[in-house]
Amino acid sequence: MHSKGIAWGMLFLCGILHSSETSQTLKDAYRGKFVIGAALNEAQITGRDAREAALVEQEFNSISPENALKWESVHPKPGVYSFDVPDRYVAFGAKHKMFVVGHTLIWHNQTPEWVFRDEKGSLVDRETLLKRMHDHIATVVGRYKGRIQSWDVVNEVLNDDGSLRQSLWLKIIGPDYIAKAFQYAHEADPKARLTYNDYSLENPVKRSGALALIKMLKGEGVPITAVGLQGHLSLTWPSIADEDETVGAFADAGVKVAITELDIDVLPRPDADHTAEVTRSIQQDPALNPYAGGLPEVVQGQLAQRYKDLFRIYLKHRNAIDRVTLWGVTDADSWLNDWPVKGRTSYPLLFDRVGQPKMAHRSVLQAVEEVGQ
Ligand code: G3I
Repeated sequence: MHSKGIAWGMLFLCGILHSSETSQTLKDAYRGKFVIGAALNEAQITGRDAREAALVEQEFNSISPENALKWESVHPKPGVYSFDVPDRYVAFGAKHKMFVVGHTLIWHNQTPEWVFRDEKGSLVDRETLLKRMHDHIATVVGRYKGRIQSWDVVNEVLNDDGSLRQSLWLKIIGPDYIAKAFQYAHEADPKARLTYNDYSLENPVKRSGALALIKMLKGEGVPITAVGLQGHLSLTWPSIADEDETVGAFADAGVKVAITELDIDVLPRPDADHTAEVTRSIQQDPALNPYAGGLPEVVQGQLAQRYKDLFRIYLKHRNAIDRVTLWGVTDADSWLNDWPVKGRTSYPLLFDRVGQPKMAHRSVLQAVEEVGQ
């Protein structure tokens, strides 16, 4: 009888401990270390998805717009800007006193073709494209001056071998398009943090190219303040040692480091490429969608451990890291449900499809608890 009572008491206590543990939020647990962000889709920004908007408010103190500030969204036609959703995005962040990110000014994707062409369809010259770039940056950054604290100025400018990507920006303007973009952004909001954002910088060859680029920009006095490691990672890539080395190398190069688009893919990759190139597309195959009926507990555990290991590294470098942003709020929102194979069931984030915290959420909290103050 007595031992039964003790057992029930223990169970009750565990219940209380468990519920108090899980009531801890990401932003509160990491306060004083770095801000924790999430990328928001239109339904979350506008409040159409009220449950997820509430979850964002509760758990995160930084936001990024998943698509709303890309050129094709905000500036679809010459002289036509679409500020409705971006205005609501910035207002959401201001209302909740969040660190608000702008993503992204200059990218080779999601930029309408008209930007690069004249009325006859021919490529424009350098001066014309520079003027368009300047007007776009001055208008968009200027509108949110003092309210968007950090801009991804250039996105994905390097190839996987570390050379400059042959985008139309490079082809028409030349390599100084990067420096120009930073200068224009700085003119439009001198206090904003300005970031070069890219994926797979854990790959040593690409990382060398990025370090050389940053060194060159800093040497020329270009106002770059941070590198964004997108962080589209998997259960096995990169190694924790590589992540550690990568963050350390950029910190040593004298820039802040932001983890800008973190997610961890648990689904099989059809090849060994570690890329986040959005134009990739691979044919559907049930073998590539093994967890359509749910994620096995063992993989859930692996995901949790992986998140913990990564956050330990981010915490180790907390003097250099000012932000860790998840690329989405719940697994249901993730771009990885449709990339590189359409229609898969992916589990890369910290909240499940109905907004409940996953084991990985708990492990991210544990990582900071272990560090203490
Ligand atoms: O808005 C249209 C909608 O009107 C249309 O009906 C629908 C039909 O497919 O498409 C909608 O646009 C989609 C948009 O997401 C909004 O859902 C685009 O097709 C789709 O290409 C776009 O994908 C985004 C992708 O970037 C390309 O912009 C993903 O949501 C977004 O997560 C992803 O984010 C990128 C980062 O910006 C840069 N780093 C890599 C990262 C992941 O790819």
